[in-house]
Amino acid sequence: MSSKIKNPALAEEGSLKIEWAEAHMPVLMALRRRASKNRPLRGVRIGGCLHVTKETAVLVRAIRGAGGEAVWCGCNPLSTQDDVAAALAKEGVSVYAWRGLSTSEYYWCVRQVLDAKPQVTLDDGADLVFTLHKERKEQVSRVIGGTEETTTGVHRLRAMAEQGRLKYPIIAVNDAKVKSDFDNIYGTGQSSLDGILRATNVLLTGKNFVVAGYGHCGRGLSRRARGMGANVVVCEVDPLNALTAAMDGFRVMPMAEAASVGDIFVTATGCKDVITAKHLRRMKDGAILCNTGHFNVEVSVKDLEGLARKKREIRPNNMEYTLRNGRRLYLLAEGRLVNLGAAEGHPSEVMDMSFATQFLSLVYLCEKGRDLQPGIYPVPEEFEREIAETKLETMGMRIDTLTRDQDRYMRDYETGT
Ligand code: NAI
Repeated sequence: MSSKIKNPALAEEGSLKIEWAEAHMPVLMALRRRASKNRPLRGVRIGGCLHVTKETAVLVRAIRGAGGEAVWCGCNPLSTQDDVAAALAKEGVSVYAWRGLSTSEYYWCVRQVLDAKPQVTLDDGADLVFTLHKERKEQVSRVIGGTEETTTGVHRLRAMAEQGRLKYPIIAVNDAKVKSDFDNIYGTGQSSLDGILRATNVLLTGKNFVVAGYGHCGRGLSRRARGMGANVVVCEVDPLNALTAAMDGFRVMPMAEAASVGDIFVTATGCKDVITAKHLRRMKDGAILCNTGHFNVEVSVKDLEGLARKKREIRPNNMEYTLRNGRRLYLLAEGRLVNLGAAEGHPSEVMDMSFATQFLSLVYLCEKGRDLQPGIYPVPEEFEREIAETKLETMGMRIDTLTRDQDRYMRDYETGT
């Protein structure tokens, strides 16, 4: 097994982190125990392009425990936890990932995974699938199927499918309720604040906290920032989501107005150029900027660099830009995912559900993928129920069950007033 990581000496530290994550991911661990008996992924090589975190390592161990082979790279230049990468490499996983990759190194790592000729792809952002379709056309027919972890990746893959460019079936793990209603909302909400605090340690209470995008991630963030006492302002392009934000009690305004109001800005849209020069020029001295959307295109770093007369790293993951107008703006984690660049990503408890969904989807693909046409598929509903039920159980919670009579009533149309 070959690997390229930053420092093998970090393996012990990484193993401890993985152990901690395992203790907080009971659903995935239960699936792993079950799969270690019948080994449903036996002989299948899975190419993963997903943040190399302690939670991902638990997923990788589950894949291997189920008989699969994992070949891995990160899906973002700043999100690899080098100790976890070292621990995985020591366990014999082929892992090509380190924190602080250049773009060419990033794609070198992606290509190493493709060189291993995976039969199943597990992607987060669709870089692996896109590169495979663009550069390795001869390999595509051998792929059984894939899964996609995030909103932006599903958008890209849908666009490929609509143009007839996607050549194998992909399960949109992101779109499962058991994933996006928890991971994107609570996971991104908490971990993005964690990233902001680690990079700045500013007091949130009393601050004007601007959130761009009131989708899953934006909702989680806004609610959590309010919980910490911030005055949250929401910027949106979708009238329904903007209305929801207003009725949830947040101020809603365009970015052009919010720019001069905000103390902290977080983009969570999956769109590009949400904050550009025209906004940056209006910002207060000391404003803090960051992004939690998948790619580093939401805050225009190019515009910030263009307006600045000097820059220096004032704290880890916190770059101070002094503009020609004399104001100082602070960009966290280079405008990349702040929760992974400046903190550790989502807590294990919530990744438990996302990765349990991934795991069941991988098993499903190995069993049924050959019968599926190219395209985007939802996670089978029964997996969502199973994961939610197991999660509740592990949280020590029980729920009610419909009686036979209630069940009949709910499906009846004759009983009215
Ligand atoms: P979503 O589709 O639920 O929400 C996005 C929202 O942004 C929508 O309400 C949309 O109307 C709004 N929006 C789009 N363009 C905008 C613009 N120019 N200005 C203002 N609002 C705009 O998507 P979700 O699930 O919240 O994901 C958002 C991004 O976060 C994606 O890139 C996704 O891949 C990423 N993500 C990041 C995570 C992390 O760990 N940091 C975890 C999960 C998702």
